[in-house]
Amino acid sequence: MSDKSSDAPDRRAPVIAVDGPAASGKGTIARALARHFHLPHLDTGILYRAVALNLFRFGGDPGSEFEAMRACDLSSVSLDDPELRSEIVGSIASRISAYPAVREKLLDRQRRFAEQEGGAVLDGRDIGTVIAPDADVKLFVTAAVEVRARRRVAELLARGSPAHLEDVIIDLKARDARDSSRSTAPLAQAQDALLLDTSTMDIDDAIAAAIELAEKRLRDSNDRPSPA
Ligand code: CDP
Repeated sequence: MSDKSSDAPDRRAPVIAVDGPAASGKGTIARALARHFHLPHLDTGILYRAVALNLFRFGGDPGSEFEAMRACDLSSVSLDDPELRSEIVGSIASRISAYPAVREKLLDRQRRFAEQEGGAVLDGRDIGTVIAPDADVKLFVTAAVEVRARRRVAELLARGSPAHLEDVIIDLKARDARDSSRSTAPLAQAQDALLLDTSTMDIDDAIAAAIELAEKRLRDSNDRPSPA
């Protein structure tokens, strides 16, 4: 893999925002971008999943914004807990992430990560719009729902969980609708985000396309004269 970015003239380390719907490949792409540009990476979905797992363990009600907000103290959850990846936790995360009080509680941690000196890659739903609106590169990664569902099924089967394509399609559509229609920080392509539709790409092609888009965006902004 070429690494032209690292010998760019003394430019501050970039912030890269990767947004997109569930199972679009944004997590894998964000991790690959982080490796390529030698940047720290934050999967912001894991924070919402951690709140969901906390709530679940306390026996809290996902229908209560107050109880979900109280589950935002993440001191007793390890972000490496494999339970975070379970379908039940993902489904609770999708519900509690619509609460403004929950989003507000997780905001500072994400902003601090985005603003750290050495640059950063963050992936989520609202990185380019809310968390890091000034990011140097914004990618919006998407794919047709059937394609995303097939990927999610493969992922679940590989983890030993039973999965049925029809059920996963229904679930993804419900998550897309919830993510896009919530009033606070809905899933949306930032106006200056580059669209990457991975419907017909395998993951290696998608990663290569993302790196190319990011490098081009960084080169273009380097070439632009800086404001006086
Ligand atoms: O695996 P999947 O893409 O479904 O979800 P995830 O990225 O792990 O995120 C879990 C849930 O958190 C999603 O259903 C989103 O609704 C929510 N989320 C969010 O609202 N904002 C973010 N920046 C990241 C995730």
